Amino acid sequence: MAVSSSKTEAVGHDAAAFLERARVFVDAELDRFLPAESDVPQTLHKAMRYSLFAGGKRLRPALALAASEAVGGTFADAAPVACTVEMIHTYSLIHDDLPAMDDDDLRRGRPTCHKVFGDAMAILAGDALLTLAFEALTTCAKKERVAEIVRDVARASGTHGMVGGQVLDIEGEGQPATLASVRAIHEWKTAALIAGSCTAGALAGGATQTEYENIANFGKKIGLAFQILDDILDETSSPEQLGKTPGKDAQAGKATYPRVMGLEKAKVEAQKLVDEALAELHTLGARAQTLERLARFVVERRN
Ligand code: IPE
Ligand code: IPE
Ligand code: MG
Ligand code: MG
Ligand code: MG
Repeated sequence: MAVSSSKTEAVGHDAAAFLERARVFVDAELDRFLPAESDVPQTLHKAMRYSLFAGGKRLRPALALAASEAVGGTFADAAPVACTVEMIHTYSLIHDDLPAMDDDDLRRGRPTCHKVFGDAMAILAGDALLTLAFEALTTCAKKERVAEIVRDVARASGTHGMVGGQVLDIEGEGQPATLASVRAIHEWKTAALIAGSCTAGALAGGATQTEYENIANFGKKIGLAFQILDDILDETSSPEQLGKTPGKDAQAGKATYPRVMGLEKAKVEAQKLVDEALAELHTLGARAQTLERLARFVVERRN
């Protein structure tokens, strides 16, 4: 199938250049962490690699690396965090696509994990990615920050983060939605892991308390804007551009920003959140330039 979600469109040129650099770096690191396809159990490792290396924007690892640099750290400092958040994100997508959840056939321009490997193997590939993700954190160079990093990633992914948000999302299907209810869903299911990618990257780079707080606020705001764009693109994009099947939210009666406020107001809301996020970076100075570019990319993106 000639569809691909791996390439970022030619919007936000500077962000695209950084995303590409981050992608090359994190893909090499992920390849080191992941068991080879020839390792037993082969089906499991094939399924994990199939979804992880299917393409994807690598926004969360890019944010982790940029947050490290924004506080004076390096790519190497944040490499395990970058891999961790992409493994957790990919696990969340594999499970999100299962018939029992969103029931999707197309992801990152390819048949979904369960379509290729079956439901049982897709569930287990997700479980294994989540578990390996936490093992990766033990390799952070700044050992004294590992406990805080594990805390942030666990909270972002768990019951008051991604998993909790997925519960609210599923329970909200076909129910009346308000701005408050959809915001709560999006803050947990998507913004939490995006914010966690920023804060864990900042911790790995050696953030001070003030830097940490600014980056946490930045992450929550761009994370919410990111899911608003995801909702908008579900209504306005094509399978070729998106690498997934559009129109699924309305079909499933999902709670989305366009549903509660209309497409145009949803776009304005996303831009407003990004503007507020940028204001959080002022105290960080020029080192935060990449985070700024990534924030703009969140609302300019086409896939
Ligand atoms: C899609 O995330 C799922 C959401 C949380 C909105 P991305 O749009 O970052 O998906 P990939 O990683 O680029 O495939
Ligand atoms: C996904 O939200 C949030 C996750 C935690 C995976 P969606 O269900 O809207 O993501 P897509 O549109 O399938 O990528
Ligand atoms: Mg979903
Ligand atoms: Mg989905
Ligand atoms: Mg969506």
